Amino acid sequence: MSIVDKGKQAVQGIAQAVMKKAVELAPGSLLPGGRPDPLIRQRHGHIGKPVSRVDGPLKVRGAAPFAAEIALEGMVYAALANSTIAKGRIVAIDTGRAEAAPGVVLVMTHRNAPRLNPPPRFLSGAKAAAGDDSPVMQDDRVRWNGEPVALVLAQTQEQADHARSLIRVTYQEEPAATTVAEAGETEVGTFMGEPLRATVGDAEAAFAAAPHKVDAVYRTPGHNHNALELHAATLVWRGDELFLHDATQAVAHTAWSLAQIFGLEEAQVHVTSPYVGGGFGGKGLWQHQILAAAAARLAGRPVRIALSREGVYRIVGGRSPTEQRVALGADADGRLTAIIHRGVTPKTRHSPMPEPFILPTQSAYAAEAIALEVRTCHLDMVANTFMRAPGEAVGTVALECAMDELAEQLGLDPVELRIRNEPDKDPISGRPFSSRNIVAAYRAGAERFGWDRRNPVPRSRREGEWLVGMGCATATYPYHRMPGGAARITLDAGNHARIDVAAHEMGMGTATAQAQIAADRLGLPLEAVTVRYGDSSLPGVILAGGSQQTASVGLSVMMAHQELVGELLKLAGNDSPLAGLRADEVESANSGLRKLDEPERFESYASILGRAGRKELVVEGSAPPPLETMHWSMHSHGAMFCEARVNAVTAETRVSRFLGSFDCGRIVNPKTAASQFRGGIIMGLGLALMEETQLDGRKGRIMNRNLSDYHLPVHLDVPEIDVMWTDIPDPHAPMGARGIGEIGITGTGAAVANAVYNATGRRVREFPITLDKLL
Ligand code: MOS
Repeated sequence: MSIVDKGKQAVQGIAQAVMKKAVELAPGSLLPGGRPDPLIRQRHGHIGKPVSRVDGPLKVRGAAPFAAEIALEGMVYAALANSTIAKGRIVAIDTGRAEAAPGVVLVMTHRNAPRLNPPPRFLSGAKAAAGDDSPVMQDDRVRWNGEPVALVLAQTQEQADHARSLIRVTYQEEPAATTVAEAGETEVGTFMGEPLRATVGDAEAAFAAAPHKVDAVYRTPGHNHNALELHAATLVWRGDELFLHDATQAVAHTAWSLAQIFGLEEAQVHVTSPYVGGGFGGKGLWQHQILAAAAARLAGRPVRIALSREGVYRIVGGRSPTEQRVALGADADGRLTAIIHRGVTPKTRHSPMPEPFILPTQSAYAAEAIALEVRTCHLDMVANTFMRAPGEAVGTVALECAMDELAEQLGLDPVELRIRNEPDKDPISGRPFSSRNIVAAYRAGAERFGWDRRNPVPRSRREGEWLVGMGCATATYPYHRMPGGAARITLDAGNHARIDVAAHEMGMGTATAQAQIAADRLGLPLEAVTVRYGDSSLPGVILAGGSQQTASVGLSVMMAHQELVGELLKLAGNDSPLAGLRADEVESANSGLRKLDEPERFESYASILGRAGRKELVVEGSAPPPLETMHWSMHSHGAMFCEARVNAVTAETRVSRFLGSFDCGRIVNPKTAASQFRGGIIMGLGLALMEETQLDGRKGRIMNRNLSDYHLPVHLDVPEIDVMWTDIPDPHAPMGARGIGEIGITGTGAAVANAVYNATGRRVREFPITLDKLL
């Protein structure tokens, strides 16, 4: 055996040992035949209650500090100058006038920037955070229109902005590819290291033979990130340690990645992010934090960098345009015989993935033959990145509009067509579903929405100037639980518990939901639990992304609780009513432990700690790898219903009613969950009707500068949105709960488009559905 083979064998041996250990320690719910998480059946605890946000009062009073509100002694303000060409070289930069401008402390360009390692590209390692791995101001190359070419530090933001405007850059332009047509060659895209391609049977042959067919191309435009809170960081170096207050979805990833970039130990970088005003996939590590840290080092001053709206559009990745062909073949009964979903979407050489729009189609419908593929090409543009249900948001637009077209051709109700094609196992992987009640969600949603009042004949309902129609579509988003979950519990002798976890509060209610979960897990009143988060020094490598934070943190707390029970039993000793009991014979309740089948054998935490002379007990637990997704196909589901009104004179579209009926497992907090669902649906309305990144193909420049140019739904665009859910616990998800963060945006675009078709008889396959396309 060669050395290489021996090495491989050793690695495999370690991997198997790690996996064996993980399986031994894992809660049964993650494995076939195992016992579900006891909390999924709990009906009288805190889970399932509409608890108001624990951070609500602070936010209402303006007392919750965001990254751009932290003030540091001696702080200076940063402004970035962006390139105005898509590709080429910087021949000269005249910084003289900027340097001489009032208040200027430093002008940094590639000529004086410190040497930095390339940013670790997201998904390239367990803690890699960067949305783009281009060198950061290290050379004279320009890779996209908008790439930072200089950074100014000044005493005030206004001075920095002014000085930035005085910088003159001379470029030597090179031919750039800024549109798919210019790029030429395409290749199969990859996502998380896997090719974005799946095949079952011969889909083209099955499609050719099908008696009923739909074959259409759908186009979605680019989208930009538009969190309410703009990207910002306030930071300071103390010796060789960097302290960064960031707006991020990934504190631990960011700390590790910055350490790599600056050649430091991980422990030398401290990232805090207690409040984030929306992330949506865009609040990762981009050039602004890196450049601000580099400049702070050069200047020896604390720095605040806060991007403008245009600044975000130009350096933070967005969602690339897609062109998707969906071809569906069906028999006379409406059973799908072929599903083809392929298309093209661009990416850059430096970003982690192309928009993975085939993802929702993988587990959607039973069909004998399926062919899915995302092709991509490399453009000279800002990165494609994760954005609000990446893949599913725009993938469901194409798939679910095509299903509507097929239903019409077959003369079948669109709800019925979907129910008829429900798969009994995952059509691609063959795995059983952990829990799938989408039919129940459709039936309940259709009844509440009044779907039976829909006239299937387009343009058949008119109220004055308004043509009124109804449409539906399926929503879907996968259950994720990324490796790296960990949490610490500090239980004190006053029966109070603090949960420490490197999680994030971006407005979705993390601390609230986790306090509810921990209170039930530990058998404590809600007021007795506090959750500390948003700090890279806390346990866990937890991404607030992929709609997975609740599962990831919840399972980490479950594992920490197992440790806690073991430690408490050790401390209890022989004088306790719990003497001699094993961990699996007791449960937490009433601020203490009791024997499962003999509840009068009970001792409170305070009593156990008091007798042992302990003020507090600190334990930590780590979540096992996501074993559950190796055994089951796990997805959140939803049925979306839209009523749209299109003005017969002006062609403007108004969504008048919307209902989302969800099947996402147990709902931990109906109040914050409803808000998550509604927020997602509002983003879906934007995708359907207004959002569009405007690119000038000649220069590759994004032309939108602000929310006047880039339209998002405002209050008047949003009807009352009704949401409901099955609340059927998933036996294989922690707490029985699958993700809810992103599913609302999926299916919504198609539900709107299908309603517009029903109202007008016009099939718009090019998004957004602006009035010019309906006139
Ligand atoms: Mo979400 S796009 O996974 O932050």
